[in-house]
Amino acid sequence: MRAAVVSDSGDDAAFSLLERPDPRCGPDDAVMRITAAGVNRADILQRRGLYPPPPGAPEWPGLEAAGTVAEVGAAVTGWRPGDRACALLPGGGYAERVAVDASLLLPVPAGVTDVEAASLVEAACTVVSNLDAAGARAGETLLVHGGSGGVGTAAIQIAKARGMRVIATAGGAARAGRCAALGADHALDHRAGGWVDEVRALGGADVILDVVGAAYLADNVRALRTGGRLVVIGLQKGARAELDLGALLTKRATLLGTTLRARPLAERAAIVARVRDEVWPLVPRIVRPVVHATFPLAHAGDAHAALESGEVFGKVVLTVP
Ligand SMILES: NC(=O)c1ccc[n+]([C@@H]2O[C@H](COP(=O)([O-])OP(=O)(O)OC[C@H]3O[C@@H](n4cnc5c(N)ncnc54)[C@H](OP(=O)(O)O)[C@@H]3O)[C@@H](O)[C@H]2O)c1
Repeated sequence: MRAAVVSDSGDDAAFSLLERPDPRCGPDDAVMRITAAGVNRADILQRRGLYPPPPGAPEWPGLEAAGTVAEVGAAVTGWRPGDRACALLPGGGYAERVAVDASLLLPVPAGVTDVEAASLVEAACTVVSNLDAAGARAGETLLVHGGSGGVGTAAIQIAKARGMRVIATAGGAARAGRCAALGADHALDHRAGGWVDEVRALGGADVILDVVGAAYLADNVRALRTGGRLVVIGLQKGARAELDLGALLTKRATLLGTTLRARPLAERAAIVARVRDEVWPLVPRIVRPVVHATFPLAHAGDAHAALESGEVFGKVVLTVP
């Protein structure tokens, strides 16, 4: 099979489409013939050598993919060759085939293309696991930063379906407007400044899903209501910050941080099962995949450049011929 392997030329955006051995199907695995693979910001870090694949994962990136089951291991039940499927992967999506533990497979929802399915797996797993970790409940207010991103576009829709009030931030009025069109009750342009005061004027947030990191830490705590939970999942603006802990104490607030890929298999499988129960029945009528652009696998570097341009709204997906 062929895989888009990060080239060692040192060129920032370079991938090479190289022959690699077909993946072997272990007893608990399914081998999937990939037709579409989602592109994530973590893939960019991996390309730059800053986020190495976990032990046992292929060397090339790709945290989510969709396609057709080609082979199943002896211990696998519930999946057969020929089934359409998508999967949460520890890596290896940028290829024609991947082996994955069958507990990480999901069906492709009816009415959804493989490209759309591949765009939604990682984001839906991220959103559901973090809303659960924060104990997010109907009637509460969620503030989601980067409402324009892959995670954010899913978070707006999933949180609304949970019965939450959603405030989203995005860069620019047009991107904020698109967050509102996805269902955000309030969409704020963070480039205009003053989002903390606007959130406070709206009563504050019970839960914040933050993809920005250090630069937003103190402001996020200011935006929390009493008993609020701040979940940091991205560090786009730094990993080190200073915080007045008094603000956490008086608000009886909780600060959480999570990652998805590093979790033990059983935890990732439980998250996939939660997504299958909570989100998949809502796709595509209530939770719509938001695909900004597709690129052929051979042009994975262009897909990364698109994501790095900051112009993407939603997801970029690779198509595998
Ligand atoms: N911990 C985990 O398990 C986990 C899982 C998935 C993703 N992540 C991380 O979460 C982050 C988001 O992932 P993603 O897939 O949604 O990425 P994405 O599609 O690239 O979206 C990132 C969004 O962040 C927004 N943003 C960038 N700088 C900002 C700033 N200074 N203030 C406010 N918003 C800003 C951008 O929106 P505007 O341009 O509109 O401002 C962009 O739409 C990434 O860092 C990713 O690595 C973590």
